[in-house]
Amino acid sequence: MASPPRVCGLLVASGVVAFFFLIRRRRRDDGISPRARVVAIIGDPVGVTRTSLVFPRYTPKAVLIPLDVPASKLATTLRGLFGARNFDGLVVTKPHKENVVALCDRLSSVARSVGAVNCVRRCRDGLLYGANFDGAGFVEGLRKRYPAFLDAPRTCLLVGAGGAARAIARELVATGHRVRVTNRTLARATDLAAAIPGVEVATTLEPGYDLVVQCTSLGHSPDDPLPIDPSILVPPTLCAEIIMNPPQTRFLEAARNRGCRCHAGRHMLDAQLQLLATFLATTDDHVFNRLFT
Ligand SMILES: NC(=O)c1ccc[n+]([C@@H]2O[C@H](COP(=O)([O-])OP(=O)(O)OC[C@H]3O[C@@H](n4cnc5c(N)ncnc54)[C@H](OP(=O)(O)O)[C@@H]3O)[C@@H](O)[C@H]2O)c1
Repeated sequence: MASPPRVCGLLVASGVVAFFFLIRRRRRDDGISPRARVVAIIGDPVGVTRTSLVFPRYTPKAVLIPLDVPASKLATTLRGLFGARNFDGLVVTKPHKENVVALCDRLSSVARSVGAVNCVRRCRDGLLYGANFDGAGFVEGLRKRYPAFLDAPRTCLLVGAGGAARAIARELVATGHRVRVTNRTLARATDLAAAIPGVEVATTLEPGYDLVVQCTSLGHSPDDPLPIDPSILVPPTLCAEIIMNPPQTRFLEAARNRGCRCHAGRHMLDAQLQLLATFLATTDDHVFNRLFT
């Protein structure tokens, strides 16, 4: 059996080792590794997006920094960021999605047809590649919550004709659904329908849609008006929102009060973060070409 002074010595020694272990661990947890890969999210204002809070779940090895970038500094910011060797790419939010198109050397087929980019990465040859996952995120988010819903061809109404509506329209048409669009500014709805074969402008609004997607920017404030007459929201219509903040918008409230099934905006973002993370992190050309060109 060990003598009492020996036991004391062992206890003190293990205490010292544990102390240094904890200090090292704390230092590691508190700081950013000097070998960290870095990605950024840019917007104006960037503070309204949830992406920087949720993204680290998908890219534990990369550090994501939110950057508030005015339109006048967009090009210089991009050039500066991609000058750093450990900078892997950007998530792009409002109002830069359209303007980033001209700053990319290559575009995915979706980004080209939507005319907007929500993610940029550097390719092996140093060129900047822009993609758009808004539509894929929406459809994937819907599929996760209602797995059977998109198995049959559906008749969908998109309310709004901005960048997000364009991306969603393209993806719904590409996955076999019929899409109509309505918008405050008719010319924008007509442009969307002309740009994406298979989309029509809704001339009258009546109940009977399988899916109604609220794609305008109305709903961030509780004082915002409803984007459409809620009388067209009648079960079994599935009513989807793309605004994430607040989680419950007036559109969703109206749909729920009328007995419709509701799908919140966060599902679109949650589903596309996995795609964004893979797009930014993959170094395998085969995976990249299969998933993203
Ligand atoms: N959940 C997600 O992952 C996700 C992804 C992307 C975007 N979003 C959200 O989707 C919203 C739209 O984004 P976006 O990029 O498509 O924006 P955008 O290109 O600026 O389009 C805005 C749309 O809202 C309509 N609109 C704005 N104010 C209106 C009003 N007072 N009355 C009626 N319609 C009005 C516009 O109609 P006009 O053409 O008549 O101006 C247009 O159709 C944003 O709020 C964004 O936060 C969410």
